[in-house]
Amino acid sequence: MAVCISVIIDIFIPLIKTLMKKITVFTALAGMAFALSYCNVSKKAANKAVAMNYETNVKEIIAANCSPCHFPAEGGKKEPLDSYADVTKHIDDILRRIQLNPADRGFMPNRHAKLSDSTINVLKQWKTDGLKEN
Ligand code: HEC
Repeated sequence: MAVCISVIIDIFIPLIKTLMKKITVFTALAGMAFALSYCNVSKKAANKAVAMNYETNVKEIIAANCSPCHFPAEGGKKEPLDSYADVTKHIDDILRRIQLNPADRGFMPNRHAKLSDSTINVLKQWKTDGLKEN
């Protein structure tokens, strides 16, 4: 009986030990996988938070600075810039013109002060982010 118990102990203790090690390794791996996936999710969320889009970031800037001249509904007779389609169509020309010196030919907004750097950067970033509508 005593032999039997010692055999059982001899066999089972190492077995349990390896099992525990495996469980520890497994738990660590699972923990790491979870942490990584969590990092990814929060990174995606952060990217999404800064991605510029027309509805939230661009529309107001254009309305505030390019009306009434480019807003037909307000009597503007210049190239319309009152929709997502029109602004995306002209984005390269818009970016070029708003970065000119006010004294240069073609500068926009025509007969107004130059837009602030941060406003210009919003439009640049919007293009970098892929000209999203919303
Ligand atoms: C006071 C009126 C006025 C305002 C405000 C104004 N523009 Fe203009 N815009 C004009 C005039 C006039 C022209 C035509 C002359 C020219 O092409 O330089 C023009 C032309 C343009 C063109 C070229 C259109 C084409 O037919 O290819 C673009 C692009 C443009 N403006 C962008 C803007 C943007 C962007 C803003 C706002 C940041 C703005 N404009 C504000 C009067 C204005």
